[in-house]
Amino acid sequence: MKIKGRTFILTGGASGLGLGTAQELASQGGYVAILDRDEEAGKRVMSGTFSYSKSVRFFTADVSDAENLEKAVDAAVTWTKETGKPLGGAVSAAGVAWTAKTLDRSGNPSSISAFKTVMDVNVIGTYSLCSLVASRLAAQPLDKLNEDGERGVIILVSSVSALEGRTGQVAYGGSKGAVASMTLPMARDLAPWGIRVVALAPAVFDTAMTAAISKKTKNKLAAMLEFPRRFGQASEFAKMVSSVIQNVIVNGAIIRLDGASRMGKL
Ligand SMILES: NC(=O)c1ccc[n+]([C@@H]2O[C@H](COP(=O)([O-])OP(=O)(O)OC[C@H]3O[C@@H](n4cnc5c(N)ncnc54)[C@H](O)[C@@H]3O)[C@@H](O)[C@H]2O)c1
Repeated sequence: MKIKGRTFILTGGASGLGLGTAQELASQGGYVAILDRDEEAGKRVMSGTFSYSKSVRFFTADVSDAENLEKAVDAAVTWTKETGKPLGGAVSAAGVAWTAKTLDRSGNPSSISAFKTVMDVNVIGTYSLCSLVASRLAAQPLDKLNEDGERGVIILVSSVSALEGRTGQVAYGGSKGAVASMTLPMARDLAPWGIRVVALAPAVFDTAMTAAISKKTKNKLAAMLEFPRRFGQASEFAKMVSSVIQNVIVNGAIIRLDGASRMGKL
């Protein structure tokens, strides 16, 4: 899939890995519809990073609210008709983290409602976005220049916590495990439509999500990477998104971005 002249819907694009991806795709001539629930952050990036860009537009959307998300996806699709830059796919980067042990120090179970919130955003939100975008892609006529009959690509964001969740990551790791497990069946479901599905599984990246981690803990986490022994940068994540979009043979895969780490106990 060519990036230039195509529009990509990017959830969580107002910050971190999503924002880095928006910058990368826009720099390659792609159009980007940023969908994020943080309206203030959206306004900030639109008046800052993208102030001169006609190829990036912000839409307020909460991925855990199906109706609200569908309205935002449809508004983004309407924008593609105005610009004449058809939909090329989506990156589902909206996500939340929450840390709590299964039992607290007194042996009480952790909050089910917080667990459910993580699942609503990371799992249901991801699936809702994918199914909506896939249906809009399926409705688009095939690009005659595309010999493989590719209609689009959907990139999910899992995590190494899907398999190597640390203490307190039952909800987060569980949600990212669900995202990873959706990848192959969704790729198989959407193959007849010429839509690829790929998941990226980052280890530790410098973003707002990891900003609150203490320096000491960050050093311990970075030491779990073989090479390079540091947190990844959003631009490095974005380069992988760009590569996956452009490489049609990559499908149904879960790609780790982890400096050869296997996360252990802290
Ligand atoms: N940073 C890391 O080390 C790391 C590692 C592995 C996976 N990830 C995953 O990468 C993705 C991006 O995370 P990040 O590190 O860039 O975090 P971030 O906090 O910088 O960005 C997340 C964005 O998602 C948005 N968001 C949250 N809930 C939303 C909702 N319900 N609807 C719409 N938007 C919502 C936030 O407003 C924010 O802009 C997440 O899915 C995260 O789990 C991050």
